Amino acid sequence: MNIKSARFIASNTKMGQLPPATLPEYAFIGRSNVGKSSLINMLTNQKKLAKTSQTPGKTQLINHFIINDNWYLVDLPGYGFARASKTDKKSWEGFIKTYLESRENLQCVLVLIDSRLEPQKIDLEFLEWLGNKGLSFIIIFTKADKQSKQKTQRTVQLFKNEVLKNWESMPPYFVTSSEERLGRDEVLQFIDEVNRNFQAPQLTDEPGTPDHQ
Ligand code: GTP
Ligand code: MG
Repeated sequence: MNIKSARFIASNTKMGQLPPATLPEYAFIGRSNVGKSSLINMLTNQKKLAKTSQTPGKTQLINHFIINDNWYLVDLPGYGFARASKTDKKSWEGFIKTYLESRENLQCVLVLIDSRLEPQKIDLEFLEWLGNKGLSFIIIFTKADKQSKQKTQRTVQLFKNEVLKNWESMPPYFVTSSEERLGRDEVLQFIDEVNRNFQAPQLTDEPGTPDHQ
């Protein structure tokens, strides 16, 4: 897929304010600092579309971007931010989980995993939650430039082993580096294929529908 345009639409904490659910949508999620915003910038060929930071917890809202005027990309706040208070963590969970469970046009959750780390409990638990909710997801291993290919392959294998304890198969996964633009074509091709099968949900409250007489 060629990226012809990528624009920021809105940041929200409330479901009611999200853009209309008429286009296919993809949510990027993962531990704080895993590289979500960097990946979004790499995929869209923009340096500063999504704000990146060395300080974990930079992305605090549900951020919608519209790509090629025909699909939404969503940058979500990171989970597992060690310095966040318990109350903050709870409110994160509340609004992100509500968003993930109820967003009608959400096609796929892209779960980002740091390719340098052994499988983390928090990530595996999050995948389990997605699975229990029947949400479709793929895995994106990030920051592959920071280590050798062998080490990345080892992380992937360890992660697969963990996933296969709970699931029959490993979901689609991609190894990426925002720094070296690795995995860009593959991720965009995946999104392109899902977009082709998208059917807009029937929105309730359509204007012009007469009430009972
Ligand atoms: P939060 O919004 O805080 O949850 O973080 P995030 O997941 O959006 O991470 P972000 O993209 O802001 O990146 C965090 C840090 O990792 C930044 O310093 C990035 O420059 C760095 N980083 C992200 N991706 C890569 C990558 O592929 N390679 C390298 N070397 N560094 C990366
Ligand atoms: Mg971010």
